[in-house]
Amino acid sequence: MSDPFFQSLFAERIGGAMFGKGTAIYKFEKIKRAKRKALADHPERKLLDFGIGENDVMAPESVRRVMADQINKPENRGYADNGPPMFKEAVARFMQREFGVALDPVTEVNHCIGSKTALSILPACYINPGDVTLMTVPGYPVAGTHASYYGGVVYKLPLLAENNFFPDLDGIPADIVAKAKLLVLCYPNSPTGKTATTEFYEKVIAFAKKNEVVVIQDAAHSLLSFDREPNSFLAVPGARDVGIEVHSMSKGFDMIGWRIGWVCGNPLLVRAFAETKDNFDSGQFIAIQKAAAAALDDAEIPKQTRAKYRRRMEKLVATLSRCGFRCEMPGGTYFLYTPAPKSFANGAPGGGPVNFENAEGASQYLITEQSICTVPWDDAGSFLRFSVTYEAADETAEDALMAETESRIKNLQPVF
Ligand SMILES: Cc1ncc(COP(=O)(O)O)c(C=O)c1O
Repeated sequence: MSDPFFQSLFAERIGGAMFGKGTAIYKFEKIKRAKRKALADHPERKLLDFGIGENDVMAPESVRRVMADQINKPENRGYADNGPPMFKEAVARFMQREFGVALDPVTEVNHCIGSKTALSILPACYINPGDVTLMTVPGYPVAGTHASYYGGVVYKLPLLAENNFFPDLDGIPADIVAKAKLLVLCYPNSPTGKTATTEFYEKVIAFAKKNEVVVIQDAAHSLLSFDREPNSFLAVPGARDVGIEVHSMSKGFDMIGWRIGWVCGNPLLVRAFAETKDNFDSGQFIAIQKAAAAALDDAEIPKQTRAKYRRRMEKLVATLSRCGFRCEMPGGTYFLYTPAPKSFANGAPGGGPVNFENAEGASQYLITEQSICTVPWDDAGSFLRFSVTYEAADETAEDALMAETESRIKNLQPVF
């Protein structure tokens, strides 16, 4: 069959005339296919799904009640644009309560339809062809993808275990630094689980000032901090002179599907975001913003979410450690990022070793041979990501899931 006339019209950024013809299978699609196959090949074996990166429960009932009420109010029906002030004020109260950060709700806060959209919009504010965006890897790639769409260059900063999963800012070549406009960070870090220290943020601020780089700190996981009180980049003196922080209601408030978050920090940078955003969308439904404001005012919600994922993480770390994995409690997030085994000494069907070239190989073995789903990362060392967002109705169900995990991998004998 011949190509449609528009086959040659696709932009290079999505593959140009080759769009839709590629055969490469991307990581998450590979995982999905392997999951389907594991379920088909072993219907008797429960799939232990540590691959999901989404909260496992609905938003709290109190929040859903506000939504149910607000949805019927005619005054909520229109375009929200960059308003209403009520949500911005709730954000300002929240930032003060949780992080001790004082924000002017009028000039220093703007909502977004989830932090993903904010990260996709922000490069439009800064990136001309050839401009460099500094981004940590492994990580959430959205800002980099959009920077590339504008002809920008993404320079990757590997997060290595030997550097405590912080980027080596001093090691960036001078010609790259000279062209850099953006430094995109993410703490608590997804997927490494590292949380940021004040000293690290101070270093970032000094780097940004010296090299005239705008900092975008992705705080999507900010409320899931275990080794320190949840912290904000903006609480560090000087941060507001160099950057903004992007927040999300998805993780800490179990509001993944509601699509609500915000950008806050330096007023001119927030204004650039708001004015650019105005050309992308017309704002989130006001009923959602009102329900989100009610959630922000309830300090118990993030505490409970944090306690639940901390409890699950402690159980997972103990279980995997007993199985010979080299893991320790992450600083934050609901992800455990742990070195991938090079082999399982007792992993072959009749006994004997199975070897892996990389984390992807180990992950494929776990899903196909043990029906255990994980996400592999081979960007900076080989690691497996276990998420504790699996479905389990209560603590008894969590314990049963851990016991099943242990029984499947206890005898495999991981080798590192
Ligand atoms: C590091 C990170 N940033 C941003 C997001 C986007 O979150 P949302 O768009 O739901 O606010 C995610 C979601 O998985 C994430 O892991």
